[in-house]
Amino acid sequence: MSEQMKVPFLDFRPMHDPLREEMDAALTRVCHSDYYIRGHECEAFERAFADYIGVKYCVGVGNGLDAIQLILRAWGIGLGDEVIVPSNTYIATALAASYTGATPVFVEPVLETAEIDPARIEAAITSKTKAIVVVHLQGRPCDMDPIREVAKKHGLHLMEDCAQAHGAKYKGVRTGALSEAGAFSFYPGKNLGALGDAGAVVTDDRELAERVRHIANYGSDVKYHHYIKGMNSRLDEMQAAILALKLPHLDTWNADRVRIAEKYRALITAPEAAQPLPPDEVFSPVYHVYGLRIGGGKRDALRAYLTEHGIETILHYPTPMHLQGAYEELHIPEGALPLAEEFSATEISIPIYYGMTDAQVQTVADAVNGFFA
Ligand SMILES: Cc1ncc(COP(=O)(O)O)c(C=O)c1O
Repeated sequence: MSEQMKVPFLDFRPMHDPLREEMDAALTRVCHSDYYIRGHECEAFERAFADYIGVKYCVGVGNGLDAIQLILRAWGIGLGDEVIVPSNTYIATALAASYTGATPVFVEPVLETAEIDPARIEAAITSKTKAIVVVHLQGRPCDMDPIREVAKKHGLHLMEDCAQAHGAKYKGVRTGALSEAGAFSFYPGKNLGALGDAGAVVTDDRELAERVRHIANYGSDVKYHHYIKGMNSRLDEMQAAILALKLPHLDTWNADRVRIAEKYRALITAPEAAQPLPPDEVFSPVYHVYGLRIGGGKRDALRAYLTEHGIETILHYPTPMHLQGAYEELHIPEGALPLAEEFSATEISIPIYYGMTDAQVQTVADAVNGFFA
């Protein structure tokens, strides 16, 4: 019997191996520079990333959660305010609103895209609503035109959580440049990842960028002058140097994810496995995650079957935010957000990463089809 091919959920080697020498040199350069936080490496990355996204300003920060929180805080959002977030996202989006003192208000997604449903946003707006945070989940851009219209009509701030969508485009414009501000995470497994925690805020608004920079540095505009109670969330030089040398490869890496997605779409033929929508002239996704939806209560059995066949999977996310202990205080009962609950019960993410071989993609597709055969 031939040996089973293992398919990890993520393998950094195809991405990192060709860059090892460059990465070592960058880390050594920073190590010997005697300057470790917010120096030339950070400045260079901020310039390059702003240019890549197509905005005027980028502020390197500590992580993606802080990036969201910093934007909301810079807008003055806090206690007593409400912030609209998707019901189907990683908890960081909601926590960022909570950390400002505001209350997150969950809006359900569209089942086929997993993204916040623009048609449901207006009904969630109250006199306390101050901002909308959309999330380009799984690397697919949200439908921004109707969302921008609602935000404008009600005078609300609008920002994007781009933690899963580095390089994705909506109508030819990159995520992060589709609203007042974008928040990025460079957690190692993201499409553009650091070697630790890192994040960034991007915007065309000079005042917002400055305020974010100050709040992220203890609320300080001039050294030891603190005009606001800030926090410590700064991009360090090692991470900035690594991100700067990886950034020129991002489009190639994303194109490879699109290639793999196309292959899955063609090879996974089991009708029981609902797949992400393909790209079109409006939506250019970057497939941070390739999430199948498996109905009929069979998701967990499929997962066990894939594990048995050497294929790693992840569930995004097994418990929706409103049913987490962290959000008990909102008293949202089970059944109140049925689409978020459906995602939690049916979603399974199969491997997708730069450098995944055709044979690995075929192995995964065969196993998914085999389970339903
Ligand atoms: C949608 C989303 N928002 C925010 C974050 C938070 O990013 P970080 O882990 O860098 O704080 C993540 C990261 O997992 C995410 O997936």
